[in-house]
Order: sequence, then structure tokens, then C-alpha cells
Amino acid sequence: MKGVILAGGLGSRLLPLTRVTNKHLLPVYDKPMIFYPIEALVDAGIEEILIVTGGDSAGDFLKLLRNGKDFGLKRMHYAYQEGEGGIADALALAEDFAEGQPIAVILGDNIVEKGIATAVAQFRANPVGAQILLKEVHDPQRFGVPEIEGERIVRIIEKPLDPPSNYAVIGVYMYDASVFSIIDGLEPSARGELEITDVNNYYIGQGTMRYSILDGWWTDAGTFDSLLRATNLVAKARGGGAGGSGETG
Ligand code: DAU
Repeated sequence: MKGVILAGGLGSRLLPLTRVTNKHLLPVYDKPMIFYPIEALVDAGIEEILIVTGGDSAGDFLKLLRNGKDFGLKRMHYAYQEGEGGIADALALAEDFAEGQPIAVILGDNIVEKGIATAVAQFRANPVGAQILLKEVHDPQRFGVPEIEGERIVRIIEKPLDPPSNYAVIGVYMYDASVFSIIDGLEPSARGELEITDVNNYYIGQGTMRYSILDGWWTDAGTFDSLLRATNLVAKARGGGAGGSGETG
């Protein structure tokens, strides 16, 4: 299975940090943010990755990541998203790369403690429809939130004021090749974007969406608070940072 990392968008919630660089090149503890989703895909056995990015700093990804050899990849592929048309708009650029095969997609600002290998292996064994991952959070209104009846997700609501559950749909999605025709049929949302939640709701409507609960911590890193949280979580996992086993003087 091939992997796609979505690293476009303007990162406007992180201004002025993102005035002269792309959000996904900012540091999270000791690595640029984009390293974490790359490592999550590589750890799940994915050997070919497409990075979709945009804006003025797109060339810096090539300088930083080159052919992906440092991550054990044979080649890194790149695509350029014009403007900020939404997550599904960015994903549409992966159609040729996917070559009709199922894909694993991860948002460039998502970091997972224990990886996504189990979920990727499940989907690889039965690569039909779609599969998402959920994680319980204390602030579900910031995310896509599933409404769950029994064992079934009946729909996902994007950033609900009144969340139907305490779960977030994390930014890791597995899709069969029909995802691209689903995106073709989408209309922009009220915020003018092609929403990944609309793609997921389409699969739910077809009865072909599966899900699992992520093991270990997860965070995004697209706001000042979540960027700090990401840095602290990674530092703690490495035994570093404030309160860690670092310097004593
Ligand atoms: O982090 C998980 C959440 O990500 C999900 O729970 C939500 O359902 C999903 O919509 C998304 O919400 P955000 O509001 O956090 O998405 P954001 O606009 O911050 O975009 C997340 C990443 O997607 C960003 O780091 C890069 C990529 N992206 C985003 C946009 C809008 C693109 O590549 N192109 C874009 O046009």
C-alpha cells in the first residue's frame, strides 16, 4: 500500500510562526513536524510516499527530505496544491500516484505515540471501502466527531458545537480507489473547503466504513497549544524535556 501525507494549507492558526515557512517544517522537539507522519507510515511498512504541499516554502520539503533515503524509502514523491482548498482537495492530487490501489493517508500535523501499523495491516488484509481511527479527547469540538450507535458510526460531524461523543476522528485515513471519484462529487463546505469528513460520511452512507480505536497518545500540532503539547509529549516519550532525565545544572 502507498502512503500520502497532506502538508498543504497556510497554517494561519500559527502566524507569525508560519509567515516565512510551512507549518510542517516547524520543530516538534528534536525533529521537523513532517518527520513524524513519515515515520508513522514507514513503520507501518509503507515504502512509497507522496507529500502534498503548497505555498512559498514547497521547495524546502525537497531540500529537507530529498529522496527519502534517510527514512528507508526508495523515493519520495511530491505534489503541489494551489491555494488552500481543503484536505480532500489536497488528497485529489494523489490520484495518479495511487494507480488505482488503496492508500493510507495521514495529515502532516498529526503525531501518534505508538504508530498506525496495526490499523494499516487490517486494511491491507481487506482493502475495501475505508477505515478511520478514533481517539478519546477532552476537546472533541476541535475535530471531526463520530456519532456512534452501538458499534456503528452513523455519521461524523466536523467541529460540532455539541459533540455527539468524546472521540476525535484522527488524521489517519485508509481508502480504496473509489475515494477519488467521491472527492470529484464533493461541494465546498461553508468554510470553502472540500472536507475529508464529507468523504468519510460518504463511505459511512455506503456501509463500507470501518474504524478502530488508536492505542497510545495522539495529537495534532496546528495551534500554539497543540504544538506545545506535541513537543512535550514527544520530549517525555524520549525521556527529555522539562522534568525529564536531561541536564542537572
Ligand atoms: O487532526 C485531525 C483533524 O484534522 C480531524 O479531526 C478533522 O476532521 C479534520 O478536518 C482536520 O481538522 P483541522 O481543522 O485540524 O484541519 P487543518 O485545516 O488544520 O488541516 C490539517 C492538515 O491537513 C494540515 O496540517 C495540512 C493538510 N491540509 C489542510 C488544508 C486545509 C492540506 O494539505 N491542504 C489544505 O487545503
